[in-house]
Amino acid sequence: MDIKNKMKLIFSAKSENESFARSVVACFILNLNPTLSQLSDIKTAVSEAVTNAIVHGYKGEDGQITIDAEIIDNTLHINNFDNGVGIENVEMALQPFFTTKEDEERSGMGFTIMKSFMDEVVVESKTGCGTKVYMTKLLKADA
Ligand SMILES: Nc1ncnc2c1ncn2[C@@H]1O[C@H](COP(=O)(O)OP(=O)(O)OP(=O)(O)O)[C@@H](O)[C@H]1O
Ligand SMILES: [Mg+2]
Repeated sequence: MDIKNKMKLIFSAKSENESFARSVVACFILNLNPTLSQLSDIKTAVSEAVTNAIVHGYKGEDGQITIDAEIIDNTLHINNFDNGVGIENVEMALQPFFTTKEDEERSGMGFTIMKSFMDEVVVESKTGCGTKVYMTKLLKADA
């Protein structure tokens, strides 16, 4: 069956919204009967992207985060946007253990976690404009 469905979530860049955002995305995909492991992978990846927007993009200041999610042919497509400071060197930011906040208990593993839990992760960013993290995950291989 060819399922097409989409949603948009816009919320304040506050740490208490991190669990809210990941739960919304998890609920959105429930009718595709994802496995617990798929649900957990997606929730973790969304959390990492949202945390990055709050901590790095807006540096704890007020801001807005948008998540666009779409299911096309059993694949979940997620776009996480912020209008924060942006990333100077995306290639470097994607490397394991790279962090610009070593002093604040950051391990530099957020993007690495997103890449290992999702099928595809593409980061686009412009300094002074913001960051977009696009991720996909196949939810059912048999349809
Ligand atoms: N939305 C964003 N806006 C601006 N900079 C970002 C954003 N997301 C990531 N970065 C930059 O990319 C770096 C790497 O991100 P990554 O999530 O891999 O590690 P981290 O957030 O530093 O540490 P961890 O995720 O392990 O707590 C960050 O240190 C930051 O400099
Ligand atoms: Mg991170």
